[in-house]
Amino acid sequence: MRKHLLGISGLESEAFADLLENAHNFADISEREVKKVPALRGKTIVNLFLEPSTRTRTSFEIAGKRLSADTINISGSSSSVVKGETLLDTGRTIQAMAPDAIVIRHSAAGAPHFLARMIPGAAVVNAGDGMHEHPTQALLDCLTLMQHYGQGYSGLKGRTIAIVGDVVHSRVARSNILAHKLLGNAVRLVGPRTLVPNELAAVQEYGDHVEVFHNLREGLEGADIVMCLRMQLERMKGLFVPSLDEYSRHYCVSERILSEVAPQAVVLHPGPANRGIEIAHDVLEGQRALVSHQVRNGVAVRMAVLFAATTGNPSVERESVEEVAQ
Ligand code: CP
Repeated sequence: MRKHLLGISGLESEAFADLLENAHNFADISEREVKKVPALRGKTIVNLFLEPSTRTRTSFEIAGKRLSADTINISGSSSSVVKGETLLDTGRTIQAMAPDAIVIRHSAAGAPHFLARMIPGAAVVNAGDGMHEHPTQALLDCLTLMQHYGQGYSGLKGRTIAIVGDVVHSRVARSNILAHKLLGNAVRLVGPRTLVPNELAAVQEYGDHVEVFHNLREGLEGADIVMCLRMQLERMKGLFVPSLDEYSRHYCVSERILSEVAPQAVVLHPGPANRGIEIAHDVLEGQRALVSHQVRNGVAVRMAVLFAATTGNPSVERESVEEVAQ
C-alpha cells in the first residue's frame, strides 16, 4: 500500500508522531560509515522539482539513495515543461514508467493534490506547493526541536513558537502552524500588517492557538522557539514593505533583542536565509541557531516519509535498517 503526504493538514497526530519517531530512528544511518540500508531496494522515486531548491531536492535524493531506492531527478529547466507540456501530461508520462513515489515541488498551491487525484499508482509527496504547504519542512523542524529538548515527542509540547516575517506568503509557516496545532502549542505570528494580517488569528483550520503581533519585541517576549522567515520576493505582486532596509530595522531578529526578551529561545530558519534582513549574522552564527541541525534532519525526515509513502508501513523492520553488505 502506498500513502501520499500532501500536507500536515489532514494528518492525524498519531501519524505525525510516527513519522517523527521513524525519522529519529533513521537519523542514525547518516552517522554510520556505510550510509546505506536495504529498506527501499527495488523502489523507484522520481523527484519532480519545478521550482528552485537546494535543501529539499538534495535531501530527498540522498534520503532515497540511503534507503537503496533508485532516485531520478527532474527539474523544470531540463524537462519538457519548458516545451509547454502540462503538469497532468508530465505526471502521466512519469507514471507510465511505474515509479513508486513522485516527490513534487511546484509554484501552484494544490499541484501535489492534483497529481495524487489524477495519476493513481504512485504515492505523491509534497515538497512545497506555492504558498500552501511544505510538510516535510515542518516535520524536520519538529524533529530538530524534539532532539534539542530531548524528551521524545512529549518534549515538543507546552512550547511557545514565534514565527517572524513573511508569514502570508510562507508555506513553511502554514505547515508549522498546523504542526504546532497538533502539538497543542501556542503560536505567535509576528511581522508588519501587510505580511501578517490580523485575520490569520481567526483562520478556523489553525484553531485557537494563534496570536498576531506587529511589534517584534512583544511577539518574541518569553518565546521558547523563534522561527525566522525569508521575505518571499518571488511570490509578491507589488510592494509589501517600503524597503528591505526599513523592514530589517523593525523586524530583523538579532542576538541583542533575543537576549533581552527571549533569552532561552532557540532559533530556526528554513533557509535560504538573507543575513541582515530577517535574521542577524550573530544569531545565525550563534549557539541558539539550530539551522545546520534542521538541514541534517531533512535527510532523516525524508527517509521516514519515503519509507511510509512507498510501503504504507508506519514502522520500520529491523532488517531493513541494517547495513547493506559491501
Ligand atoms: N527550506 C527549503 O525548502 O529550502 P530549499 O528551497 O533550498 O529546498
